[in-house]
Amino acid sequence: MKRLFVFVCVVAFATLLLAGCGKSGSKGKVGLSFSDFATERWSRENDQMTKLLEEKGYTVISQEANHDVKLQNDQIENMVSQGVKALIVIPEDGAACATAVTAAAKKGVKVLAYDRLIKSPDIAAYLSFDNVEVGRQQAKGVLKVVSKGNFVLLGGSPTDNNAILFRQGQEEVLKPLIKKGDIKVVADQWVENWDAANALKLMENILTAKKNKIDAVVASNDGTALGALQAMKAQKLAGKVPISGQDATADGCNSILKNELTVTIFKDTRNLAPKAVELVDKLLAGEAIEGLQQFDLAGLTGDKKMTGKVNCAFLPVVQITKENVQSEIVKSGFQKKEDVYRDIPADQIPKD
Ligand code: BGC
Repeated sequence: MKRLFVFVCVVAFATLLLAGCGKSGSKGKVGLSFSDFATERWSRENDQMTKLLEEKGYTVISQEANHDVKLQNDQIENMVSQGVKALIVIPEDGAACATAVTAAAKKGVKVLAYDRLIKSPDIAAYLSFDNVEVGRQQAKGVLKVVSKGNFVLLGGSPTDNNAILFRQGQEEVLKPLIKKGDIKVVADQWVENWDAANALKLMENILTAKKNKIDAVVASNDGTALGALQAMKAQKLAGKVPISGQDATADGCNSILKNELTVTIFKDTRNLAPKAVELVDKLLAGEAIEGLQQFDLAGLTGDKKMTGKVNCAFLPVVQITKENVQSEIVKSGFQKKEDVYRDIPADQIPKD
């Protein structure tokens, strides 16, 4: 009996020790700094990166700043004082964040700008998607339905460099039609914090000012598009006026199936998170990094005064409409079938 007890204790201790190895992180600490968890993707990517980093033997410290620029910088400083060797940062404000990040880099911390650019030449790398192409595909998706008339542009958060890149792509596609006189931009707004409630208010005001005479909306992500759609619904314009989104969120895809959102842009974040983890692991091991390309900060930001270069990689994006939601989003397992087809009549739900 006594022997059995000792045996059980030894096994339990060994199990604890093994389980602890991944978590306690023999390879050191890595910090994850998120602008917010309001957009669906961020908490998923937090889970994914945490898991992958722990599997590689790192201890993960993760924080989100609830859109507070100062809080995010404080959190980054705090993680540095806790001894993180690397930081993966999704900045709320690409310029303001550079202060904390540059200080961290000077202390030898490897900083990875994740999805959104940090405006500092001291970052080790910037990993994202082809953001200009996102903008092009948003505009093209709307133009498939309406290519003339009064257009509303709803940009993202003005402190997020991605919002500038999305707009660049949108303008590239729309400009020739604006020049020709086919399209008139009747409202051009930026949605602070990418907040759906802000988008709803902005759209209410636009509809009042323009007496509902709008023909298309180029919105920059699903969250803000769904906010704008609420205002459009109240005026019976949802489903009549095409509108774009981004992220292929569960709600966004569901809205596409309900004929309200016209198009979303799928960025397979399941590929970005592992890439970031692998990069951090290699950087910390002092190994050579392949597949990165140098870009000028001036070009990436559209600010000619910015100097320095950054190592970057950009993953491809896919335009999603009603035609390919099932094949690209559901079948690939990016979103759950029951979420995407919520409240959709049974005879419209594919069997596979
Ligand atoms: C990301 C989008 C996201 C938005 C709001 C952007 O920087 O690229 O995927 O929808 O932020 O969080």
